[in-house]
Amino acid sequence: TGLITLDPGFGNTGACQSGVTFIDGDQGILRYRGLPIEQLAEHSTFVETAWLLINGKLPNKAELDQFSKRLTKHAPLHEGFKNHFEGFPLNAPPMAILSAMINTLSSSSCDGKLHEDDIDDLSAKLMSKVRTIAAYSYRRSLGLPFIYPDPKLRYVANFLHMMFSMPYEQHIASQEVVDALNLILMLHADHEQNCSTSTVRVVGSSKANLYASCAAGVGALWGPLHGGANVAVLEMLEAIHEGGMSAAEALALAKDKQSGFKLMGFGHRVYKNFDPRALILKRAADRVLGRLGVQDPLLDVARKLEELALIDPYFVERKLYPNVDFYSGIIMRAMGIPTSMFTVIFAIGRMPGWIAHWKEQNHDRASRIARPRQIYIGPKEQVYTPMDQR
Ligand code: CMC
Repeated sequence: TGLITLDPGFGNTGACQSGVTFIDGDQGILRYRGLPIEQLAEHSTFVETAWLLINGKLPNKAELDQFSKRLTKHAPLHEGFKNHFEGFPLNAPPMAILSAMINTLSSSSCDGKLHEDDIDDLSAKLMSKVRTIAAYSYRRSLGLPFIYPDPKLRYVANFLHMMFSMPYEQHIASQEVVDALNLILMLHADHEQNCSTSTVRVVGSSKANLYASCAAGVGALWGPLHGGANVAVLEMLEAIHEGGMSAAEALALAKDKQSGFKLMGFGHRVYKNFDPRALILKRAADRVLGRLGVQDPLLDVARKLEELALIDPYFVERKLYPNVDFYSGIIMRAMGIPTSMFTVIFAIGRMPGWIAHWKEQNHDRASRIARPRQIYIGPKEQVYTPMDQR
């Protein structure tokens, strides 16, 4: 044990070399394959960004067209899959359904071996089907009929169609809403060795297939300290608003370690200046709510919390700033997306990142099975006591 260094939460352990995403936490810089997130937010779409992450460069027109065709081709679920949805209780958390269904896909799509030839198709299939699974899980929770994907619609519009259309009454999302969801998905698309991506890599390091690895990633993302924070933020803002609590009172609670309350959507392991995704989303929240004509008191609560926290010594000293989850939920709420689906949408967004890392790891000759060590603190050797003497 003398040789083992303890590093809880791997705060200072580099587990791999990666060329996917660059983060400078002190400067608030995030780049996918070298491209600044601000440029992608302005010019790209989620699908193009996904291809960039998975393949390492921006696609040319033919490559993007082929990828889009594959996404369209793979959108429907096998009819037999509907039976799986029927088996879940109506109030089943959509993240539970998503993880289970991705594993179910692996039973029909992968045989546990790595098919490098098929990776483009496997990736498109996974990205496309998680969108259909997510929409179906929402429909199931409301007891509504499943809506088939429409091959004429593009990735984001098709998702909104499957979520919100009714038989004989197609829901056509406004460009404003499509753009906003594209932006949210793109900003979530990768974030180097975060908890869920590390999980995907750990599972993939045993040579588990892509789908089994990503199903595990969904489990990691679910927790409130990670992707589940977008739900926790909304619940916190609602509780503050409905409880008539002031922002100052809420901050006082968040600073009190005994309270068990944290300021959700604040703080980050790597960003110690600001989270560039939060800046983009804060501006987007103002813009989208304005254009949709939505006045949400929760946006005012969020703004006030941020304003006070940024000058409060507790948050300043600990370098705690709003993260990606602080404003994303307010935008999704304005778009009519229920809170229960927020983390699922994060998962749809993170899928290209997980795929890119799984693929990179499989190409990395230095990759070894993930197998951390420990410092044992349990009892020394004991002697077995028979039952009648215990
Ligand atoms: N509210 C109040 N205090 C906080 C918060 C917060 N949101 N975040 C960190 N702190 C305190 C923490 O108690 C500790 O104080 P002290 O030094 O006195 O013990 C100090 O700041 C350092 O925090 P840490 O917990 O050691 O930091 P970490 O790197 O282990 O955790 C984090 C990072 C994001 C899990 C944490 O900041 C947190 O729980 N934030 C709230 C949940 C959240 O918004 N998660 C989303 C993260 S970004 C997107 C994603 O990954 O999904």
